[in-house]
Amino acid sequence: MELHTCAILDNHPVAPETYQLTVHCAAASQTRCGQFADIAIPGKKLRRPLSITDWTDNTLTFTYRVVGEGTDWLSRQHQGELELLTGCGNGFDLTAFSRDILLMGGGIGCAPLLGTARQALAQGLAVKLLLGFGNPEQALFQKELSGLDVEAVYCYDSLGENVAQALVRLGWQDLPFCACGPLPMLRAVCQASQAPGQVSLEARMGCGFGACMGCSVQLKERMARVCKDGPVFHRKEIVWEHLL
Ligand SMILES: Cc1cc2nc3c(=O)[nH]c(=O)nc-3n(C[C@H](O)[C@H](O)[C@H](O)COP(=O)(O)OP(=O)(O)OC[C@H]3O[C@@H](n4cnc5c(N)ncnc54)[C@H](O)[C@@H]3O)c2cc1C
Ligand code: FES
Repeated sequence: MELHTCAILDNHPVAPETYQLTVHCAAASQTRCGQFADIAIPGKKLRRPLSITDWTDNTLTFTYRVVGEGTDWLSRQHQGELELLTGCGNGFDLTAFSRDILLMGGGIGCAPLLGTARQALAQGLAVKLLLGFGNPEQALFQKELSGLDVEAVYCYDSLGENVAQALVRLGWQDLPFCACGPLPMLRAVCQASQAPGQVSLEARMGCGFGACMGCSVQLKERMARVCKDGPVFHRKEIVWEHLL
């Protein structure tokens, strides 16, 4: 983890209440997919964690939904600098996949899956994505994914199909997966799928780097800090009754 002062390069709306932010960051190339950065917000003691959507050698891109004062402040910043703690969390372990990978996301939980798809392609994996949103207006990454050699399927609650239902309809339950989204969605896809999987959990965070234990969750055989030991855990480790 490193502290960086990062110039804002771009910050624009991509869907209702949803923005994409790109900053300059000298350490961006060290990013692993599924990691997050912790962003300082003036006047707030706690930094706000955002997953890294994509990165280049010297830029980081985030996709975030405005839900409170911190993200509202962020959405109004178009120039200047942000202080970021980068390289947070373990990220997805793509070495666990040998041929196919299915990336499943729900809502703003899809944020880390674009960079993950690019990484998986670079590793020679056959990439499928299944992304669910409340309605078509909220869909993310359609343009970016259309330029990649991936199979991407979108589903919408408003049209009567959630991610777990689409997973079954597509017959993709045997594909090893990475998933990120709200807990009920993560549980539903784990119940529907028989395959090995990695899930990225969210928790309210304090310090963001493993010191305060504020983000601890009870796993099957251990307590774990979502910020430092996670946010990605193997599905086998999770006892949903402890989390929901
Ligand atoms: C590892 C990690 C990665 C994340 N990645 C993203 C991302 O890529 N894009 C994105 O939009 N959001 C992401 N989040 C959630 C994001 O951190 C919060 O939405 C943000 O901190 C809210 O700050 P705020 O000041 O705007 O709202 P606050 O005033 O802090 O909260 C507003 C509302 O949001 C809820 N909330 C705040 N934080 C969380 C949380 N961690 N989990 C569930 N509910 C929360 C609060 O309960 C409250 O109802 C991530 C969270 C974690 C832990
Ligand atoms: S937020 Fe402090 S240990 Fe995770």
